[in-house]
Order: sequence, then structure tokens, then C-alpha cells
Amino acid sequence: MIADPTPTDGWTGRVALVTGAAQGIGASVTRLLAARGVQVMAADIQAIPPELRALPGVHAAPLDVTDPDDIARAALFLLSDDARHVTMQHLTVDGGATLGA
Ligand SMILES: NC(=O)c1ccc[n+]([C@@H]2O[C@H](COP(=O)([O-])OP(=O)(O)OC[C@H]3O[C@@H](n4cnc5c(N)ncnc54)[C@H](O)[C@@H]3O)[C@@H](O)[C@H]2O)c1
Repeated sequence: MIADPTPTDGWTGRVALVTGAAQGIGASVTRLLAARGVQVMAADIQAIPPELRALPGVHAAPLDVTDPDDIARAALFLLSDDARHVTMQHLTVDGGATLGA
């Protein structure tokens, strides 16, 4: 059995970007990371629910992963001085489009 890391076991202060964060797997990942003290940029095409936005360290970020302009804006932000605090140790790409069969 793999031991679950304790809330302060190397997670506190890290930064994560989670897409598809409004519900389902992305919302669960957001809750788990926030409970471990990670700063979470919770990105989704739909609004991030109030119960998630109320969690310490969770920041809602409107983002459509299929929109090149949204991706470009996110990349420009991450390259800017405004994002110099972002160290991005975690990236969860969850929400999006499934193409083909
Ligand atoms: N739940 C499962 O058991 C399971 C199993 C295998 C694969 N998956 C895949 O994992 C992904 C997530 O599953 P889920 O059950 O959490 O789905 P879900 O539908 O509950 O949640 C998906 C989230 O992604 C967001 N989203 C959709 N399009 C987006 C876009 N263009 N940009 C940003 N966000 C977008 C939605 O708003 C939603 O909040 C899906 O692609 C699903 O096919 C899920």
C-alpha cells in the first residue's frame, strides 16, 4: 500500500495549474492539492464553483484549452513579470476535447 503524503509533506507553497477544475477529476485534484497547501490556479471553460473558490490558495482562472488565444494569453502571463512567483511544479491538464473515435 502506498502511504498518502501528509498535508505538509513537501507540498506547501507549491503552485499548480489545473484545467477542467470546475467539476469531476479536475475539481478533486484541486481539492486534494489545496488541502496540501498548494496554490492552485483552477482553470475551466465554466465558472469555478464558490465552494472551490473559497478554499485557501485556490484562484479561479477562466481558460478554454481548445482556444489558441486563451493558451497564448496564459503563456504570455506565465512569461511575464506578474507570474514571477509562479514556479509551476504541477500541471494537470484535465478538461478539454476528445477528437476522433
Ligand atoms: N471520470 C472518469 O472515470 C474518466 C475516465 C477516463 C478518462 N476520463 C477523461 O478525463 C477527463 C475529465 O473527466 P471528468 O469525469 O472529470 O469530466 P467532467 O465532465 O466531470 O469535467 C470536465 C471539466 O472540464 C471542463 N472543460 C471542458 N472543456 C473544457 C475546455 N475546452 N477548456 C477548459 N475546461 C474544459 C468542464 O467544464 C468540466 O469542468 C475527460 O476528458 C474524460 O473523458 C474520465
